[in-house]
Amino acid sequence: MIKLSPSILSANFVRLEEELKILENEGIQYVHIDVMDGMFVPNISIGMPVIKSIRKTTNMVLDSHFMIEKPERYIDEFIALGCDIINFHFEATDKHMEIIKKIKEANKKVGMTIKPNTSYEKILPYIKYLDLVLVMSVEPGFGGQKFMENSLDKISALRKYIDENNLNCELEVDGGIKIDNVDKVLQAGANVIVVGSDIFEKEDKASIIKQYNELFEKF
Ligand code: DX5
Ligand code: ZN
Repeated sequence: MIKLSPSILSANFVRLEEELKILENEGIQYVHIDVMDGMFVPNISIGMPVIKSIRKTTNMVLDSHFMIEKPERYIDEFIALGCDIINFHFEATDKHMEIIKKIKEANKKVGMTIKPNTSYEKILPYIKYLDLVLVMSVEPGFGGQKFMENSLDKISALRKYIDENNLNCELEVDGGIKIDNVDKVLQAGANVIVVGSDIFEKEDKASIIKQYNELFEKF
């Protein structure tokens, strides 16, 4: 099943509860939360207190995307905050198995994320332990960037690998996705679609979400 995971990076943070309610009313299951540390990526976004407040406000699946250097320093905290899916970057650590193990032991879902210049083969040794693979289709750090077409081959190759090996692993894509290019990402085989600016910069957020969901139903 294809799921939309709206990225709140482009939300209006003083009205976050209202914006989360719009997502819930449209039947959204996943909400994508981008955490940036100003080191792994040049931007700083939101952190622990905001996630804590979001957790109290919604039962949607918190699809957290940690763009931080050495994520192993914070795994216990992310778990305690109530993140349901914890995505960490392949490039940010050399403690991959340690992190995966910790997240699984806490009965949370673990995702590994790759930047545009990281080849998909790098994560294959870990993929059988993962609940999700997140392919970045922009350089991580900012919302509103242009979709990188060369991510499509990577998505197709991962879809093929996941299916051929019968893995229970979701395939998520993040960055530059809009209503008029999402079909390419779906065709390549992604099943969790992150959309930030194309939802939150629209006046009528419910209507754009409906358009995505209608498109997903046809796939
Ligand atoms: C970028 C973030 C994305 C971002 C996507 O580093 O990981 O989740 O919010 O935003 P759009 O959809 O505007 O590219
Ligand atoms: Zn993200």
